Amino acid sequence: MSGSAHKANFVQPKEFKFSKENLKKIDEIVAKYPKGRQQSAVMPLLDLAQRQNDNWIPEAAMEEIARILDMPRIKVFEVATFYTMYNLEPRGKHHLQFCTTTPCWLRGSSEVVGACEKHLGIKLGETTPDGMFTMTDVECLGACVNAPVLQRNGDEFYEDLNTENIVEILDNLKAGKMPEHGSQTGRIHAMGEAGPTTLLDMAKKNNITAGGDAPKDGGKDGGKAKSKGKKK
Ligand code: FES
Repeated sequence: MSGSAHKANFVQPKEFKFSKENLKKIDEIVAKYPKGRQQSAVMPLLDLAQRQNDNWIPEAAMEEIARILDMPRIKVFEVATFYTMYNLEPRGKHHLQFCTTTPCWLRGSSEVVGACEKHLGIKLGETTPDGMFTMTDVECLGACVNAPVLQRNGDEFYEDLNTENIVEILDNLKAGKMPEHGSQTGRIHAMGEAGPTTLLDMAKKNNITAGGDAPKDGGKDGGKAKSKGKKK
């Protein structure tokens, strides 16, 4: 990952405590590992801390994790600083991670990033003044077949992006609505953009076309692709 969040002045909280709910989850996570191997839970605990603390992990949280897992602080810091999925400084409410690796780039990620920058008035690596959005670029998100791709807060994938649908996504997020994730052009799963190219009989029987018609039984996504039908 080459982008990093805008380095505005921010204060490291002196203390961090997990919520009651997360402490329960921690017990469950740690119980999955053999006795004496509780340090293996460091990654899920870092993830819990990040989710509890508005998308970033303060140093106090890493210290708390070291205490809970009875491991040296430096080992927690080593893990947290190695993986780009952990944010060690504040991020916006919506952390938008744009894949800019070759397949996404060939399919227009630069234009999509440009449209987002223009719409939000920030550059990659920056956060909007209202704290709503942070834009960063990342390496392959593993969804190249539906490039270009954007990941929000490490959870939802928005695929088949273009300069128009990215603006729709941003406007929805701004309005407090959660846009439907997955293909934004109505493509079913990773089907070829021009429609099915294999198992044609089955595709015909199930009314699967390039236009986003879903299988009669709803398919694996429960027919969500059908409801979009935004083939462009
Ligand atoms: S190159 Fe973008 S998801 Fe793989």
